[in-house]
Amino acid sequence: MISEASQYIREYSEQLFQLDQRPKMPWPDQVLMVEPEFFDVLYVINPHMEAMVGTVQPEKAWQEWSYIKSKFEAWGLYVHPVKGVAGLPDLVFCANQSLPCWDLELGASVMMGVMRNEQRRAEVPYIEQVFAHKGLPVHRVFDSESTDYFEGMGDVQWHPERSLLWAGHGFRTSEEAIRKIVHFTGVPAIGLELQDERLYHLDTCFCMLNEHTVMCYPPAFSAKGMRLIEHFFEHIIEVDEQECLESFACNATAVSGNRVLLPEHAPRTKAKLEAMGFEVAEASTGEFLKSGGSIYCMKLLFWSH
Ligand code: ARG
Repeated sequence: MISEASQYIREYSEQLFQLDQRPKMPWPDQVLMVEPEFFDVLYVINPHMEAMVGTVQPEKAWQEWSYIKSKFEAWGLYVHPVKGVAGLPDLVFCANQSLPCWDLELGASVMMGVMRNEQRRAEVPYIEQVFAHKGLPVHRVFDSESTDYFEGMGDVQWHPERSLLWAGHGFRTSEEAIRKIVHFTGVPAIGLELQDERLYHLDTCFCMLNEHTVMCYPPAFSAKGMRLIEHFFEHIIEVDEQECLESFACNATAVSGNRVLLPEHAPRTKAKLEAMGFEVAEASTGEFLKSGGSIYCMKLLFWSH
């Protein structure tokens, strides 16, 4: 009898596979970060932004951003800072406009997305041009008229060290976009339908830490989604409601070597991570939380070759 999880796995991908049959991938070691010079809350496109319009303190935002940058550098990642653009206050969340890719034969490239909200659409060509200047091949799977939406690594992420994609949909990225990404890359994707509008991107409720470990907030997912998560991960660290919704604990970033950069004010999550052997550093992101984002979406991990 085919298990329940096996049926779901085939939803976006014809093949049924085990995690250890998927090709190995290196950890990305390059980081793109967009300077927060023009970061602000000027409109409301998620519930966290309500009542926050005009409240951003620019100096504090710079301090928080700079600390995150220095932490990635201290951990051996190569950070590429790029300038912000006036009139694009959310560009600082540079996880959202694209999905960096890596393939054993083809090497590194970047797939461009399509933002669901009009206010953020002009961010995509800007990031595209940043990568084109770096000499990375850029794929446009969706044209500017696209009615599919794909918010880059905010919703679609690589399984650590394996050629497998995890894809959140429901609020920003559309399901049809996931099918197109699978078709284009030839890489299977596991789809997770998001259930809570406050957790509108996959990276607000799901953070993969290494090949066998994920931390997540289970109520953000359907029963089917949780079956899939349980099927693929040996260890699931559950984040509680307060630390997920108020501290954005799931919007952390794991890098090679079992290191995790965690948004501050999440002591219970921190203790669970440390008990599992992770080295945890905390960063304050209060200014960016006003816009519904934190560490994970303030940077884009990519491969250089
Ligand atoms: N204000 C931005 C938006 O709503 C925040 C994006 C945060 N990004 C993320 N991947 N969670 O689009």
